[in-house]
Amino acid sequence: MDRILIVDDDRSIRELLSMHLEERGFGVVSAATGAEGFRLAEENPPAAIVLDMRLPDASGIDLIPELKKRAGEAPVLMITAHHDMATTILAMKAGAFDYIHKPIDIQAFDVALDRALEVRRLSKGADYLSVEPNRPFKMDDIVGTSAAMQQLFKDVGRVAASRATVLIQGESGTGKELIARVIHSYSAAQKPFIAINCSAIVDTLLESELFGHEKGAFTGAVQAKPGKFELAEDGSIFLDEIGELSQNLQAKLLRVLQEREVERVGGVRRIPIKARILAATNRDLHEEVEADRFREDLYQRLKVVTLSLPPLRDRPEDVPLLVEHLLVKINQRLHKNLRRVPREVIEKLQRRPWPGNVRELENVLTRAAVLSQGDMLLEEYLVETQRPVSSPVRPLPPATPEQMPTLDEVEREHVLRVWSLTKGHKGRTCQILGISRPTLERKLKKYGIYAESE
Ligand SMILES: Nc1ncnc2c1ncn2[C@@H]1O[C@H](COP(=O)(O)OP(=O)(O)OP(=O)(O)O)[C@@H](O)[C@H]1O
Ligand SMILES: [Mg+2]
Repeated sequence: MDRILIVDDDRSIRELLSMHLEERGFGVVSAATGAEGFRLAEENPPAAIVLDMRLPDASGIDLIPELKKRAGEAPVLMITAHHDMATTILAMKAGAFDYIHKPIDIQAFDVALDRALEVRRLSKGADYLSVEPNRPFKMDDIVGTSAAMQQLFKDVGRVAASRATVLIQGESGTGKELIARVIHSYSAAQKPFIAINCSAIVDTLLESELFGHEKGAFTGAVQAKPGKFELAEDGSIFLDEIGELSQNLQAKLLRVLQEREVERVGGVRRIPIKARILAATNRDLHEEVEADRFREDLYQRLKVVTLSLPPLRDRPEDVPLLVEHLLVKINQRLHKNLRRVPREVIEKLQRRPWPGNVRELENVLTRAAVLSQGDMLLEEYLVETQRPVSSPVRPLPPATPEQMPTLDEVEREHVLRVWSLTKGHKGRTCQILGISRPTLERKLKKYGIYAESE
């Protein structure tokens, strides 16, 4: 039975909280002054402390460090007056775990207390991954201990030494762009790296973006403009989502690759290009060729060297290192201080299917960082992102028959959506979907959706 120490000079609050906590099965000791609180904390260290901000003999904030020390680092929940933001911030800085506003909402109190006790339990276990506080974060750092990633690093080293065209394949969020940047930084770091997303803009615009245009080439072309190929000079041009390129532009790109020259839209001059070409796609280009959606000859030109990024679910051993790496990045970006991740939380993360791969992991951790207090990443903050499954982003109108998802794809996406909405609650998921439990089990298995506890 955990014991809670209440330090508050307001008798009605002491009584209210004692009664409530005893009902919940906690042992309670209470003190009306700071001095009394110190004595009780030392005499029999509690699991958590509830501390009023204003006490007759001291300010609660000043007591925090000493009180925690005497109580064996028990977490402290402050009770603060409403709207007292400044003192609240001071209290958190002084080491309080959390604060509860007066009048006390007992439900909020319970949530905060349970969280505090959970952190304490996990801290005691000492079995957590810890993030080094001063580790520098480099943008191009790419981590992975799995055999597949180790092999990939070797391949990257090999291709970085050459100027060969590289095709990078992998599901959404597996790190294709990152790999492209790494290849670039190891081969032509001082030169430009020009990225362009082939699916983000309409065809005519994309053409002039890629190849440039001359003055007056079309309405609105008031000035001549160099294309990305020219801007990349002797650096790298990164053609992202190349699988989405229209037939028309596929033909034009092929010519560029064959002749190493571009012609601006509306121009006659042939401009030689020196840029190294890196392309990425989350489609299976081989399949696209088979289905006559991608030119075979262009595919052959692009795939001189092909690097394939494995989906995250196939390399759970990379999860701990990725978590550590991403937390360094997230801490810096959000000015947070998440330093510890309990082993059991890591294990849960390793079991997730990660349809959105590393990007999804990053999103989940970012959200957790925003929600977390203190330096421990708690499981309750790991909300699954409601991201559609791994099928590549297909441009919406006009939808051609090939672009329509199969019934299975739609079903999987919907099951996954409800599943994450209910946070993996099977009963509620069945209710919403209107199916029986065995049917749900079958579908979860079929679509590789795993329960946290399995
Ligand atoms: N091995 C890794 N080590 C460190 N960070 C990684 C790794 N793989 C991916 N990331 C990070 O995950 C995020 C997604 O990576 P990136 O944008 O390169 O993926 P992508 O394959 O291009 O995705 P999409 O197909 O959706 O464009 C980035 O923030 C990237 O830095
Ligand atoms: Mg990308």
